Amino acid sequence: MSSSRPIRVAFIAAECEPWAKTGGLADVVDALARALGQVGLGAACGLADLVDVYLPNYRGIQVPGAAQAVPLSVPDPLARSGTTALRLLISETHGYRLHLVDHPPAFDRDGLYGPPGDGDHPDNAWRFGLLCRAALEHLRTGGSTGAPPDLIHIHDWHTGPAALLRDSVYRADPAIGGAAMLLTVHNLAYHGWTPPERAPELGLSPRELAAVGATNGIDLLRAAVTRSDLVNTVSPGFAAEALTPEFGMGLDGDLRARGDRFFGILNGLDTELWDPATDDALPARYSRENRSGKGACRRALLGELGLDPSDARPVLSMIGRLDRQKGFDLLAAAAPALIAQGFRLAVLGSGSHEVVEPLRAVAQSPAGAGRIALVERFDRDLARRMYAGADGFLMPSRFEPCGTGQMVSLRYGTPPIVRATGGLRDTVIDVDRDPVAGTGFAFEGEDPKALVAACARFERHRSGDRAWDSLLDRGMAVDFDWRSASAPAYLEAYRRAIALRAA
Ligand code: GLC
Repeated sequence: MSSSRPIRVAFIAAECEPWAKTGGLADVVDALARALGQVGLGAACGLADLVDVYLPNYRGIQVPGAAQAVPLSVPDPLARSGTTALRLLISETHGYRLHLVDHPPAFDRDGLYGPPGDGDHPDNAWRFGLLCRAALEHLRTGGSTGAPPDLIHIHDWHTGPAALLRDSVYRADPAIGGAAMLLTVHNLAYHGWTPPERAPELGLSPRELAAVGATNGIDLLRAAVTRSDLVNTVSPGFAAEALTPEFGMGLDGDLRARGDRFFGILNGLDTELWDPATDDALPARYSRENRSGKGACRRALLGELGLDPSDARPVLSMIGRLDRQKGFDLLAAAAPALIAQGFRLAVLGSGSHEVVEPLRAVAQSPAGAGRIALVERFDRDLARRMYAGADGFLMPSRFEPCGTGQMVSLRYGTPPIVRATGGLRDTVIDVDRDPVAGTGFAFEGEDPKALVAACARFERHRSGDRAWDSLLDRGMAVDFDWRSASAPAYLEAYRRAIALRAA
């Protein structure tokens, strides 16, 4: 395809901020869709207009007031007649065209993927199959624009059914069978394993299931990895790690087999959404040029969390899904030593409470009282106050395809202390390794002692060092704007995928 023809892009995703979020996937889907509209608009070779985003209409979503309800009849293996009448709620909002797939039996439930704290919904293959099916059916007939998509951008295992459907039931359909597909792997740990008895719920006939090798059950992420025209993950560092058995989560062989069709594109950050100069959740606002408001944020945060606001000793915050990936256990193991060295910890997490059990035990011990604030819920505004009000930000992730927290904390003048892995290694420069360009602190390995040592280095710099201000300044100056590098890199990848599909 000539690079001067505009291209039409549709996203299918299970999360999109601010409607549905459990993690960074939601931030990326929202911010990238918007940034592509901005970068593409006006550019001769960019996108036609806006990205079309397809998302389930989960329970509790505030449907935009101006949304238009469009009826759609979709093949559905669980419907007695074989088709289900559902609705798309379509609105132009946040810089893209949002399509909420409205089918209450599938999506009007507690929890995006399963009942809170209780595994997965057993019929997830059906639910996310239906999401993909609705998107493909709508796109097949011209979608919201009247023209079929050039490229379908799918995200994580939830949208793996789209790859299977394209290669089976839509094979001969020029609009869908001919569309290029890019898979972005945000999280390699979740595969959407679908056992054989559930596989028919994807909407493929027994023959079609056999043809795509799904007779004995199917790993939806693997299906998308092997079938998409191009596959990327969200940092070059993690793309390299994912090829190894240590980080590949059983898919390293499939990823290696894709050769140069698998690569990394570093996520950006929505720099308008994340800006301490305009952040309404903060008690005081500040900027790179004038950081004086950060002190007020610190005092207010400590007060809010029941910690002593007048205590000058270092406060480290940590925010994340309560998932083994994020290294909460590493923090729990390091916490007694950190407390003994004078640190205080502010931790905010949502998800499975067991993950945080060991940390809760330390927080509730006599030594932890007044030193560890552990808040177990999802709280957007408190998260913002924790990015702003802490002295340092912890991200001891076991693996991290990209990570958002470290980028936010850099922008909020709160130096990150990270495990050197994946996207964290790509985005945080250790100041002891590179005193001129350094923006934070990185440690290697899984030993809690390494985390404690990194925190000790943090405190040496913070308390002793006149260069501290320049460290904060450099961190706040890093340009993570989606429009600078990431969105153009996706545009490039889309063009390549389209050319590969056409060939
Ligand atoms: C997942 C990954 C995280 C990444 C995010 C968005 O949550 O674990 O590293 O930043 O997706 O791509």
